[in-house]
Amino acid sequence: MEYHDYEKVYRATNGYYWGIAPSQMCLKVVSLMPPDRLLTLLDIGCGEGKDAVFFARCGYDVSAFDLTDAGIEKVKQLAKSANVTVNAFTADIDKYRLDSNYDIIYSSGVLHYIKPELRDEIIGNYRLHTNDNGLNAFNVFVEKPFIAPPPENEEHASLWLSGQLLTYYHDWLTEEFSESVIDCDSSGILHKHAMNTIFARKKTGKLA
Ligand SMILES: C[S@@+](CC[C@H](N)C(=O)[O-])C[C@H]1O[C@@H](n2cnc3c(N)ncnc32)[C@H](O)[C@@H]1O
Repeated sequence: MEYHDYEKVYRATNGYYWGIAPSQMCLKVVSLMPPDRLLTLLDIGCGEGKDAVFFARCGYDVSAFDLTDAGIEKVKQLAKSANVTVNAFTADIDKYRLDSNYDIIYSSGVLHYIKPELRDEIIGNYRLHTNDNGLNAFNVFVEKPFIAPPPENEEHASLWLSGQLLTYYHDWLTEEFSESVIDCDSSGILHKHAMNTIFARKKTGKLA
């Protein structure tokens, strides 16, 4: 099985390949924008839905998409078993453009699949379709000369430059931007990724 063929990976996995525990990023989203009113949230590249279903359980109005049919089927099953609704659908990040707004746009472990020449347009589309005071919460794998390329040769993936993600949000409020080096054994071979994570808040108008 090739690691990067998520359709096969999700279909071949009995249960949930990524588990069902939400990522740390989800907790930060909840602390920055608690669901004290109905907030819309989009999870881009939601995989099998651990984060999307967590957000729905917290009370957000969640939509989520992924490239894989098998992933989306699992999102729906997980949502059903948690007795919540997630508007989950199949879409390709390179082709899908938002035409309505969200309070929160979230993506973890996915934006390296955007073709580099489409980054400006796609991040521009996400910025445009974020409500005022809303959040974009994203992480990206970044290139570092001291970190070996990952063992799984993902030809459709392109690492970002360190700091590049921040530049897209220079005119928003940076709630948090960080860089970390994480251990990963998702391909069965222990390796490292360098990662940038951003929580940026859209601010229109001038502060008094
Ligand atoms: C590392 S997994 C992360 C899944 C999920 N965000 C999570 O944290 O559990 C990467 C996900 O990106 C999805 N993906 C890859 N290429 C994609 C594309 N072109 N459009 C949408 N999703 C894509 C894969 O199917 C996979 O579910």
